Amino acid sequence: MLSHIERESSSSERPETPRLLRLTCAPGLTPWLEQEVRDLGYDVEGSDHTGVELRGRMVDAMRLTLRLRTAYHVLQRFGDLRARDAEAMYQGAIRLPWERVISPDGHVTVTSTVRNDSIRNSMFANMRLKDAIVDRISQVHGRRPDAGSDGDRTVVHLYWQDDFCRITLDISGRKLSDRGYRRIPRRAPMRETIAAAILMQADYDGSRPLVIPMCGSGTIAIEAALIAANRAPGLLRSNFGVKHLLTFDEGTWTEERVSARKLKAKQSPAPIIASDIDPDAVDAARKNASTAGVDHLIEFQVCDFAETPLPEEAGTIILHGEYGQRLGDPVELQSTYKRIGDFLKQSCGGWDGYVFTSKELAGTIGLKAARRTPFENGSIDCRLLQFELYSGTRRTSDAS
Ligand SMILES: C[S@@+](CC[C@H](N)C(=O)[O-])C[C@H]1O[C@@H](n2cnc3c(N)ncnc32)[C@H](O)[C@@H]1O
Repeated sequence: MLSHIERESSSSERPETPRLLRLTCAPGLTPWLEQEVRDLGYDVEGSDHTGVELRGRMVDAMRLTLRLRTAYHVLQRFGDLRARDAEAMYQGAIRLPWERVISPDGHVTVTSTVRNDSIRNSMFANMRLKDAIVDRISQVHGRRPDAGSDGDRTVVHLYWQDDFCRITLDISGRKLSDRGYRRIPRRAPMRETIAAAILMQADYDGSRPLVIPMCGSGTIAIEAALIAANRAPGLLRSNFGVKHLLTFDEGTWTEERVSARKLKAKQSPAPIIASDIDPDAVDAARKNASTAGVDHLIEFQVCDFAETPLPEEAGTIILHGEYGQRLGDPVELQSTYKRIGDFLKQSCGGWDGYVFTSKELAGTIGLKAARRTPFENGSIDCRLLQFELYSGTRRTSDAS
C-alpha cells in the first residue's frame, strides 16, 4: 500500500463546491451550445471553437448531460498539472486521488486531446495516464481496475497543451450525440447534434409546421420532434460515464431524470412531415423515430422532394440533400439543387426555407440566400442557407 498518500476524510459531509465544467461540441457548434447553456439558466465563463465552460456542481453536470442537444461531452475538472513530458505527467497524475472516484473493481478508459511536442502519439499519453490511475489505485487498495478503449464505463479525459494538463471526468461517457435511436443509419446521416443546431438556427420550437423532404434516416425530423415535445435527449439512453464513478449519487440522478421527464411541451406540436424518395430510407426513419418514441409526431411519405405535401399553414422547410464528396454524381446533383431552388420558389411561398449542403453546391440553387451559416460537418465545409420565400421570390444569379 502507498504510504505517502494521505487518505483524506470523505468529502461527502462537506458541501460540494462548484467545479469547472467543460462542455465539448463538434467544431463550430459553440454558439448554439452557449445558447442552450444560457437557456438552462447557467452563466457561461468562456468558450472556444470546440466547447463552452461554466462552473457547476455534480447536479448541474447531470442536468446538462440529460438535457443538452448540441454537446458531445460534459467534462468535470478533476485536476490540473504542469508537465513537459509523459513521465512528468505520470508523476503528477499519480498524486491525484483516483481511489475516491474509481473502484479497484471498475474499468477505465482514457481519452485525450494532446498538443505537446514530446508526444507523437496521443495513445501513449492515454496509456501513461491510465498507468498513473491504476498504479495509484493498486497502491491504495492492492488491486487495480481494468482498462480499455470501449468508453462504456468510467471515462477520464486528458487535455494537454504544451506543459498544461487538465484532467477531467467524463460525465457523459460516450458522446451525447449517440442518443441511441438511430439503429438504422442509412447513407450519409447527419449528426444528431448538428441537426439540433440547424433547428435552433431555424428558430424551430414546434409551434409551426415543419417539413423535411430528403429525410434519409430521419435525424432532423426526430430531433425536431424531441424539441417540439420538450423531451430531454438524455432520457433516450441509460448508460452514462457518471454512473460508473464511486461518487455517483443515484438519488440525485433519479431526481434529475424525473424532473427532465416532467418537462412539458409549450403547446401541442404542429405537424412534422418527413419524406424521401427511397422507401428504405423512410422505413429506417420510421423505425428510428419509433425507437426515439416520437413516431406519433411525424408523418412519413415516400416521394420526390417536390411532391412532399405541405400543410396549409406555412412553417419551416429544411432540405438536406446529398453532396458530391460523399454521395451522388456531381452533374446530377447540380440539377437536383436547381430543382430544389425551383421547388422552394414555386411551391413554398410564405414558408421559411432552409437548405443544408456543401459550400460548393450552395451556389447551384439559383435563389439568393438571406443568410448563410457555416457548419463543419465532419471534414465537409457546409452551409445552412436560409431563404425568405415570399410569393414571387425572384431568381437571381447571385447565390453567394
Ligand atoms: C444526405 S441524405 C439525408 C440524410 C439525413 N439528413 C439523415 O440524417 O439521415 C439525402 C437524402 O436525400 C434523398 N433523396 C435524393 N434525391 C431525392 C429526391 N429527388 N427526392 C427526395 N429524396 C431524395 C436520398 O434518398 C437521401 O436519403
